[in-house]
Amino acid sequence: MGKIIAITSGKGGSGKTLLTASLGMALAESGKSVCLADGCFGLRGLDMALGVQDKIVFDLADFCQQDCTMEQALVKLRGGELYLMAAPQWESELSDKQLERGLERLKKRFDFVLLDVPGIMQPMARRLLPQAEEILLISLPGDAASRNTERASAMIRDWCDRPVFLIMNFFSKALVSSGRVAAPDALSAYLDLPLQGIIPFSDAIYNAAFEGRLLDEYPEKLRDAIHQLARRLNGEYIPLKTYHARRLPWHS
Ligand SMILES: Nc1ncnc2c1ncn2[C@@H]1O[C@H](COP(=O)(O)OP(=O)(O)OP(=O)(O)O)[C@@H](O)[C@H]1O
Ligand SMILES: [Mg+2]
Repeated sequence: MGKIIAITSGKGGSGKTLLTASLGMALAESGKSVCLADGCFGLRGLDMALGVQDKIVFDLADFCQQDCTMEQALVKLRGGELYLMAAPQWESELSDKQLERGLERLKKRFDFVLLDVPGIMQPMARRLLPQAEEILLISLPGDAASRNTERASAMIRDWCDRPVFLIMNFFSKALVSSGRVAAPDALSAYLDLPLQGIIPFSDAIYNAAFEGRLLDEYPEKLRDAIHQLARRLNGEYIPLKTYHARRLPWHS
């Protein structure tokens, strides 16, 4: 039996889709079978991030409503046992029970189901997050993003009792060492969320990921950070770098 890992954030544009795609590639490279499931109903993007938008016929809602078989709804991706199940292009009348049963079937077939969940204020987030075994909550450098992450974490705790891990995306060492933003480990301690990954900002990947790039084609630092995160999710202990916190999160 595999597990569902949901990827979400306090607000949009924080790298959920890019992380879902790249983490899936890293896990598949390590020999795991992986399904990338797009939970952004009505606003799908994962297919494009993976460069397979022309191959989508059936989607997650069709599969959960049993309008097609699992194999019909899965799109095979390059690089190991890696598949995509796209989101429907429109909002769907899928019931919670159908959603739960569909995801349960995916868990039986795959080692990992990575669920690209929309930002926390979207109604689908509330329906999808309780289905996951673990939740990766993405934050960005800066006070407003940190505060949104605190709010998102509180909402998740209201909805379900699942382990939530912090991921710092768009990380810039220069911003931390100049004291303009708090260090990721300081934010992790303040929010009481274990830090699971620090993903550097890379202008080479900004938007370019949406050309369906393979992880091998990512800049080295970004690729290493994704591989390390995949190894942590596989249960390995890989220590994270700590940064000198010249500044605490926003309240102080
Ligand atoms: N570490 C990074 N370095 C540089 N660019 C990044 C990084 N992570 C994500 N991006 C870029 O930021 C943009 C937003 O990323 P993405 O679409 O994955 O965010 P999202 O959280 O899924 O957005 P939405 O809420 O709209 O679904 C994309 O152009 C993506 O390539
Ligand atoms: Mg997205």
